Amino acid sequence: MIKVKVNSAPTAKDLMKLFAQVDWAKNRKIGDVGKMLRNGDWTVCIYEDDELLGFARIITDGCFRGLLDDVIVDQNHRGSGLGEKLMQEILELSKPLDALFLNAAPEMEEFYAKFGFMKFEKLTMILRK
Ligand SMILES: CC(C)(COP(=O)(O)OP(=O)(O)OC[C@H]1O[C@@H](n2cnc3c(N)ncnc32)[C@H](O)[C@@H]1OP(=O)(O)O)[C@@H](O)C(=O)NCCC(=O)NCCS
Repeated sequence: MIKVKVNSAPTAKDLMKLFAQVDWAKNRKIGDVGKMLRNGDWTVCIYEDDELLGFARIITDGCFRGLLDDVIVDQNHRGSGLGEKLMQEILELSKPLDALFLNAAPEMEEFYAKFGFMKFEKLTMILRK
């Protein structure tokens, strides 16, 4: 049975299984992922029984701004609506915020546009560490 858990962080071990599937997260270390989870971001997890199939988080001040990050569905369960479920939960969770930002590859624009995201015309800059 599919279950959604909001603001109940997954274990770092479970999340590492999803992160191992994508280029942008596959080199993350379990200790850092554990630290990330303990830092109290807002999280949405989707489980089937006890298996973590989907994850997304919002890094936020809780009021004005949020950054949506690490949206991921297990590669063997994509294309069956879990990504949409994850995003609907994220939209609900983000209601108290004035704005929700995200960074994504250009090919993801269409996916996020389905949920109301639009290109932000102002300049976004990054200081790489
Ligand atoms: C992006 C991702 C979360 C989508 O999850 P999913 O479970 O396959 O999505 P769903 O089955 O719920 O699809 C929902 C809708 O989005 C569309 N969609 C799914 N992936 C898409 C993509 N990469 N680009 C454009 N549209 C996409 C589906 O066609 C579907 O559209 P419909 O409602 O018109 O039929 C999943 O493909 C994933 O984890 N990708 C790897 C991680 C990643 O790239 N994350 C984004 C980082 S910015």
